[in-house]
Amino acid sequence: MRYGYFDVANREYVIERPDVPVSWTNYIGVKDLGAVLSHNAGGYAFYQSAEHHRITRFRQNGVPLDRPGHYVYVRDDDTGEYWSLSWQPVGKSLAQASYHCRHGLSYSKFSCDTRGIQGEQLIFIPIEEDVELWDVRLRNTSGRPRQLSVFSYVEFSFHHINIDNQNLQMSLYASGASCADSIIEYDFFYEPWSFHYLAASFQPDSFDCRRDSFLGPYRTETDPLAVERGECFNSAELGGNHCGALHKRLTVMPGEERRLTFMLGVGPRQTGQAMRAKYSDPAQVDADFAALKEFWRKKYSVFQCHTPHPGLDAMINTWNLYQAETNVVWSRFASFIEVGGRTGLGYRDTSQDVLSVPHTNPAKCKQRLMELLHGQVQQGYGLHLFDPEVFKPQADQLPGVKLPTVVPTPSPADIIHGLEHTCSDDALWIVASVGEYVKETAEIEFLDQQIPFADGGTASVYEHLRRAIDFSTAQVGPHGVCKGLRADWNDCLNLGGGESAMVSFLHHWALLNFIEIARRLGRTADVEACTARAAQIRQVCEEQLWDGQWYLRGFTRRGLKIGSAENEEGKIFLESNSLAVLSEAATPEHGRQCMDAVDRHLFSPYGLHLVWPSFSRPDDDIGYITRVYPGIKENGAIFSHPNPWAIVAECKLGRGDRAMKFHDALLPYAQNDQIEIREAEPYVYCQFIMGRDHTAHGRARHPWLTGSAGWMYHAVTHWMLGIRPGFDGLTIDPCIPGQWPGFEVVRQWLGATYLIKVTNPRLAQHGVKAQRLNGQLVTGPIPPQPVGTVNTVEVEMA
Ligand code: NOJ
Repeated sequence: MRYGYFDVANREYVIERPDVPVSWTNYIGVKDLGAVLSHNAGGYAFYQSAEHHRITRFRQNGVPLDRPGHYVYVRDDDTGEYWSLSWQPVGKSLAQASYHCRHGLSYSKFSCDTRGIQGEQLIFIPIEEDVELWDVRLRNTSGRPRQLSVFSYVEFSFHHINIDNQNLQMSLYASGASCADSIIEYDFFYEPWSFHYLAASFQPDSFDCRRDSFLGPYRTETDPLAVERGECFNSAELGGNHCGALHKRLTVMPGEERRLTFMLGVGPRQTGQAMRAKYSDPAQVDADFAALKEFWRKKYSVFQCHTPHPGLDAMINTWNLYQAETNVVWSRFASFIEVGGRTGLGYRDTSQDVLSVPHTNPAKCKQRLMELLHGQVQQGYGLHLFDPEVFKPQADQLPGVKLPTVVPTPSPADIIHGLEHTCSDDALWIVASVGEYVKETAEIEFLDQQIPFADGGTASVYEHLRRAIDFSTAQVGPHGVCKGLRADWNDCLNLGGGESAMVSFLHHWALLNFIEIARRLGRTADVEACTARAAQIRQVCEEQLWDGQWYLRGFTRRGLKIGSAENEEGKIFLESNSLAVLSEAATPEHGRQCMDAVDRHLFSPYGLHLVWPSFSRPDDDIGYITRVYPGIKENGAIFSHPNPWAIVAECKLGRGDRAMKFHDALLPYAQNDQIEIREAEPYVYCQFIMGRDHTAHGRARHPWLTGSAGWMYHAVTHWMLGIRPGFDGLTIDPCIPGQWPGFEVVRQWLGATYLIKVTNPRLAQHGVKAQRLNGQLVTGPIPPQPVGTVNTVEVEMA
């Protein structure tokens, strides 16, 4: 069953049937102001942080799933009939009205055609202004003059989410709203510098600032009293629950289109006035929307592919890039799942996210790297989850004002945790991400940049990376394998005094990345020492972790094996085996064998399971994973994040058919017509998909903010299509299905453009026979070409 389609040319996903099983969301805003909105315009806006500075309210896990929202109601003043421009909240019968939602790159467009009125609400945030614009159009196709009323509706939220949700004795009496000069201003009484506003391009005929006046008693957003009666109550109050409802009456002549703009933002009424002055001109709205499109065009133009696989192209050229960027910008702190309780950076998550988009968002990637390195302690480990704001001067607090509503911000010293809360993998991921950033930007001097440690002292970026590696060298258990500590990448494997095979493989991978960096800097002694250490790790892995057909997952604190054929449950894990190969720690023979076992035991039509068989009995020696229902999340779901590791592993083994098999199973695009199974958005990766040990096998959950986005983008661009910037040049080393005749990529790198054409006359899966740069044979990486040049690169596989 399908609910929509990919409009590839316009880079939009079009939802034609709005009654999708769960909310299908999009992200609006590319800088400080952001909003997460569903295909029904449900959702919320925030400024910089969904936890500390919420603008509009969201009833998490509510019924329906996505209320309230950023809504426009239209009322036929002749008949009294009303509807919303998004299907919900009014939820008109689909037999009476047709609704479309177009989710695009940082915008969503809701349209409704009913009763001879074509309505449209485009929501976006201009790049240079912290204001959410609603560009509303109403076209009369009925052939007769129409008397219409238009109403906006948002529900304002107290700025701190915990206070808004839990401390109503404070939140309801520390904020008020008023309408003056046609602008609704929501203020925070104790914090006289904080405001939200809603403005519009017209003089309203009526307004409501009180939510409960607009909705009316025992009503919801579905049937607001003000809309039903055709006029707001001009309500305003200090204290209570507040909304932004501005009402305008219009006469729309046959064939005429009327255009109105609403503006939602942060700041006092004067800011609303300035925005109204700017955006009452539709030409300015159009110009800013065009600038947003241009912003994204510049980004996606850095890497565009044309392959025989339309789904891969649609995801890589638009959606997967967009999702990967969203993760770097918003980390894990704003979605319909992460509803504002998790501000800050997950050390391992953000470190990995950064790997994917240094080519399209170098500034944000660098900012994230610096924040993460600041969140590392001198001993080398990373602070598992921390808010980088803690290390910044608190600029916006007024001196001398004591705020009863403020949730105390921890001081830097408070957030430093000891080894008991340290995850064994956290700091290792950043080594590759720093390397990738420097290869992409050629900013070698970044490696010498001085960055403080969380617990004092300062060191170069290079030294920070060394400390991360040295920490793992020191933290090994009785088998010589890295300790599991609180957890490794798998939050639910809590090995404590046990050992993690995955972290030893990851350690090996970090070392390889560090060696590359050290070699580039000419630090020969480090290259030699780290090369020797990597050899020792490989030896330990082969001697201690090879189980006969695949690699173990580790040892419990009592020394029992996990992820062994000997076990009844949890016999084989995806993370350890795919990382064994990705990290190049595995021997080629064992690498092939273990990935064959992964295919045999973990593959399903919806992707690779994390572990098989799922655990059915609690065992606290192994960890929380054994207390998760079988087939869900870490306990035997198809956990998306390590799936691309298996793809990279297969590419490193040169098996393009297998890599594509794994890719296609997880590909959301491929499930567009199976929404009755998948349920979630077909245009983004989800954190996990219910595994075969669960009754809902194939159902995808937790869209958008997941490490699978960045990793899948990296796996496809760097390993399947094989285009990798390096310290010496651009490597082109594809690993593709045997039946592909070739593909093309346009890649910008260091200011030059490369038109890459790969041909595959012998239908090989891997291997380059010859490559030509501008017609000249070149062996090895393609050297960087002069800025501004456009270069052809022909690659013949064999
Ligand atoms: C989600 C967490 O955000 C991530 O850090 C972790 O690696 C996965 N769960 C797997 O446990």
